[in-house]
Amino acid sequence: MEVKKLDLIIRNAKLRNKEGLWDIGVEKGKIKAIANHLEAKAAEEIDANGKLTVPSFIDPHIHLDKVNIVEVVRPNVTGTLKEAIEIIWDKKARYTIEDIVERAGDVIRRGVLNGTTRMRTHVDVDTIGGLKPLEGVIAAKNKFKDIMDIETIAFPQEGIIKDPGCEKLMWEAMGMGADIVGGMPANENTPDDSRKHVEICFDIAEKYNADVDMHVDETDDPFYRTLEILADETIKRGWQGRVTAGHTCALAAYDDHYAGYVIEKVKKAGINMITNPVTNLVLQGRNDKQPIRRGITRVKELLAAGVTVSFGQDCVKDTFYPFGSADMLQVALVTAHAAQMTLPHEIEKVFDMITCDAAKILRLENYGLEEGKDADIVILDALTINDAIRLQPSRLYVIKGGKVIAKNEYKRELTI
Ligand code: FE2
Repeated sequence: MEVKKLDLIIRNAKLRNKEGLWDIGVEKGKIKAIANHLEAKAAEEIDANGKLTVPSFIDPHIHLDKVNIVEVVRPNVTGTLKEAIEIIWDKKARYTIEDIVERAGDVIRRGVLNGTTRMRTHVDVDTIGGLKPLEGVIAAKNKFKDIMDIETIAFPQEGIIKDPGCEKLMWEAMGMGADIVGGMPANENTPDDSRKHVEICFDIAEKYNADVDMHVDETDDPFYRTLEILADETIKRGWQGRVTAGHTCALAAYDDHYAGYVIEKVKKAGINMITNPVTNLVLQGRNDKQPIRRGITRVKELLAAGVTVSFGQDCVKDTFYPFGSADMLQVALVTAHAAQMTLPHEIEKVFDMITCDAAKILRLENYGLEEGKDADIVILDALTINDAIRLQPSRLYVIKGGKVIAKNEYKRELTI
């Protein structure tokens, strides 16, 4: 009998929640077979040596248009979100497509080296930068399409009602090819305007049959209650399961009674939540004396209510956050600390958030280490999920669409 020839076989892989070691056969970009031993041959074979092999990571919330600008703008002295937004105005008015592709490209390549092969990026749409940021990010998306899948969100960072002309640009952004309708309803002058902001975003989403992914209540001021507005509008428009709320820091500032009521609405509306601890740990609580609040949303309560939660890198070297290396394992480590997820099942959940749960939020149908799914895979120099987060190990191989797109091995040794 003829031995089957595949494009790639990963041998001796350790898989999550499965005893023993496994061979993974890949053909035409898909996982063709997973078995204890595949008799088949392949054009390329990788020995995973018993190391943990998982689906490649997803970063569901990043701002590729703003990355790597910290050195060319003045420092954020107050450390607040407000100042972070304002400092960028000058730079944003002068963006060029080449500049955006170069800055975003650095982060995309770093992301790949760190095992991420899909990003969902917010892109500013406003009367300061016009559609230039989106043009730049779409150019980067096309340039790096073989190594990173990128979804773009039209994001009205400066408000819609507050920024006359923005609504027209939002419509144009979707016409230009943005995938998802963003929003920032708390960045309006009144609650009525916040409500109008949300309605406009849903009008656009309905017209383009697009999902919605908004920045919601990124403040620790409990006055801001746009998450509830978003939940109500989601139900009214029948958009359940298609809406994501990012940041939602104010949810942590509400009293428990109102927070519980909103979480119930979020669950009913099928809203997905994305917390961004790396940024919000440094941006929020800046006006607190002591104790200084953490500023991140109610992760455990949302999980307990059955809401899908993930987290993103959000920022890399910008006015909001001076660090970041497009490494979802680093963000996972910070999130585990910030959300106090330290029990074995909670650590596993943190890992779900950058893999299967993020895929759920992005509504990916072909994601996962299973037969028939996309061969987007990373082999970690670790044996357990805890070690993957704790030790930040080498991403030995990164595979996208069945092709090896990165290899890494950090070597460290004691000399005595
Ligand atoms: Fe964000």
